[in-house]
Amino acid sequence: MNTSRAPARRPGTDPAHAVFTASCFASLAGCDNARSALAPAGAEAHDVAHLFWVMLIGAVIVWMAVVGFALYIGRAGHRAREGRAGRWLILGGGVITPTVVLGALLVYGLQLMPQLREPGSADGLRVEVSGEQWWWRVRYVRNGGARPIDVELANEIRLPLGRRTEFRLGSPDVIHSFWIPALGGKVDMIPGRITTLVLEPTRVGTYRGACAEFCGASHALMEFEAVVMEPAAFEAWLQQQSAPAIAPVSAPARRGLLVFESSGCGACHRVRGTDFNGPVGPDLTHVGSRRGLAAGTLPNDAAGFRRWIARTHQLKPEALMPAFGMLPAGDLDDLAVYMESLQ
Ligand code: CUA
Repeated sequence: MNTSRAPARRPGTDPAHAVFTASCFASLAGCDNARSALAPAGAEAHDVAHLFWVMLIGAVIVWMAVVGFALYIGRAGHRAREGRAGRWLILGGGVITPTVVLGALLVYGLQLMPQLREPGSADGLRVEVSGEQWWWRVRYVRNGGARPIDVELANEIRLPLGRRTEFRLGSPDVIHSFWIPALGGKVDMIPGRITTLVLEPTRVGTYRGACAEFCGASHALMEFEAVVMEPAAFEAWLQQQSAPAIAPVSAPARRGLLVFESSGCGACHRVRGTDFNGPVGPDLTHVGSRRGLAAGTLPNDAAGFRRWIARTHQLKPEALMPAFGMLPAGDLDDLAVYMESLQ
């Protein structure tokens, strides 16, 4: 008989346990407030975060009651399960406690709903977002007022501080889910339907948004930034974005414009103020001024544009844009400089 035994380890000294604990802490360290629903920067997100803590407290009360009853039964044995004591245990633990706690949580959760459904501000600004494969088409629309606006942008959403901005969300083909955790709850984008959302930012800053519904090969590669600005700075930004594209000045940028034209880029992309009017891909009028490229995949600079244009599908599998890696190296460089110049 083999009587040898592995040496006993104290809990926590097992290498696998240590690796698991370290990876938990490492993943927690990766959490940042820019994408945390528990660091709210919007009125709706405050309500949702508050609801989370209330639900958590409710869950802890239910858990403690269950564990308490289990311990009591274990110690008291069959005495506790018989006669009046047993009936009270079943009535108290099985009916009264869950009804009171879950009922209170339900009422608390339901009374938040009217607040979350309040309409947008009366200034008429509306943001229409469409989930594409795999990027975000963003249209700012404001009818009437001193400065009517209708511009299309991509992969970046800016919002004025303290205003309730109305979103209309849709998709041409597959279901996506629009989510800026720090500003509010997530809403599905469903082909053939328009869903709505109102966000009221309460803190200036830059927050991460993402697609929260698996939508295909590059689901994890469609992020965007939501920038909350002071209202005056927001208006200035919106006016700048609604202006037509500036003409290229430097020699490489001017050559890049010719490459853009001869390669047929304008069939899919619009550059307002030029003859390029393609409605398929992202509007490139001010693409150089955006905070990132390819829906948060690349830095926005000439090197980023060059990589994206030449190696589209290595960077974003199944993206609808064809790669242009066949272009001569000099043409790619010039095209990238032209893109970067579209500020
Ligand atoms: Cu779009 Cu997931």
